[in-house]
Amino acid sequence: MTRVALVGPMGVGKSTVARLLAVGLGWRMVDLDSEIEQRSGKTVRQIFESETEQGFRMLESSTLDLVTKETVKGCCVLATGGGVVTTSVSREILFRDWETVWLTASPATMIQHLQFETSGRPLLDGAKDLFERIHKLSTDRAPLYQSVAKWTVSVDGLTAETVAQRIHELG
Ligand code: S3P
Repeated sequence: MTRVALVGPMGVGKSTVARLLAVGLGWRMVDLDSEIEQRSGKTVRQIFESETEQGFRMLESSTLDLVTKETVKGCCVLATGGGVVTTSVSREILFRDWETVWLTASPATMIQHLQFETSGRPLLDGAKDLFERIHKLSTDRAPLYQSVAKWTVSVDGLTAETVAQRIHELG
């Protein structure tokens, strides 16, 4: 393994697992949403509000392209945002340049992880039923995650440390 990207729906634990995996491997960790925020000087929510989701997706794929070019020598773990796979350019980059791991979880696990962190996630705004919203997003996007993933790891019932360890053992 030289560069590992984690994909999967909101609340699956991508950032936490990426951080632990990067520490274990002694590699750099990049969080794509944080990178977008740093480079644009706006929060994800502000970008959605001023530039719509389409504008966010363009920034997301161009930032993924930049991070990919900057990490060409490897040794990087990337945590992506849950919707990165909705853009064909991003899917191509993930498939071609990264060893991509799809983290899966039941909606109950994702909701448990998200409990206190829905405010920065505009796609969860106004959800009357969080379970339904999360379930729909993850099932609608499942074929897209599958299309870029080299490996799939289910996180249900596992600690983030165990998930990171399992990914470490894949390579
Ligand atoms: C999104 C997921 C978020 C963030 C944005 C859109 C999505 O990232 O990129 O709010 O479309 O599922 P996380 O998966 O880290 O929450």
